[in-house]
Amino acid sequence: MSIVSPFYCDNGCRVKLGKDITINKGATLLSAGIIEIEDGVLIGPDVRIATVNHDLKERHHKFYFKKSHNQKKNAWICIGAIICPGVTIGENSVVAAGAVVTKDVPGNVVVGGNPAKVIKKI
Ligand SMILES: CC(C)(COP(=O)(O)OP(=O)(O)OC[C@H]1O[C@@H](n2cnc3c(N)ncnc32)[C@H](O)[C@@H]1OP(=O)(O)O)[C@@H](O)C(=O)NCCC(=O)NCCS
Repeated sequence: MSIVSPFYCDNGCRVKLGKDITINKGATLLSAGIIEIEDGVLIGPDVRIATVNHDLKERHHKFYFKKSHNQKKNAWICIGAIICPGVTIGENSVVAAGAVVTKDVPGNVVVGGNPAKVIKKI
């Protein structure tokens, strides 16, 4: 496993890491809602992963924690991607640079854009 600094994480005890994971520099994990990263996942530089939404009206008092934010085996999250709360990235899939992922990604695809859509199958 390799985690390159700087590495920002607010609730380390809620991050579950598999084997052979690489997290490149500048990653931000807001993990109050639990982040699971499975074996072989690559996380590029400056990737940001959130697990908490504020209520749209009572935003200072109500929060929604999206449990089990899961990156399946061998996924690759490219530079600068943002993963929104509650999203699962499928096995072997790629999230392209700068994508904003708002919905679950199936296995063996490349997604990109904002909001992220399937660009191609692998
Ligand atoms: C995801 C990625 C690997 C795909 O590469 P690829 O398979 O060679 O993709 P292509 O260049 O063939 O592009 C396929 C299509 O996706 C589009 N596309 C590629 N990257 C995109 C991105 N980041 N966001 C949105 N669309 C993208 C291309 O414009 C192309 O569209 P078209 O078919 O309409 O022409 C690459 O685009 C990427 O994001 N690389 C970032 C690498 C990185 O993070 N490096 C740091 C490593 S530590």
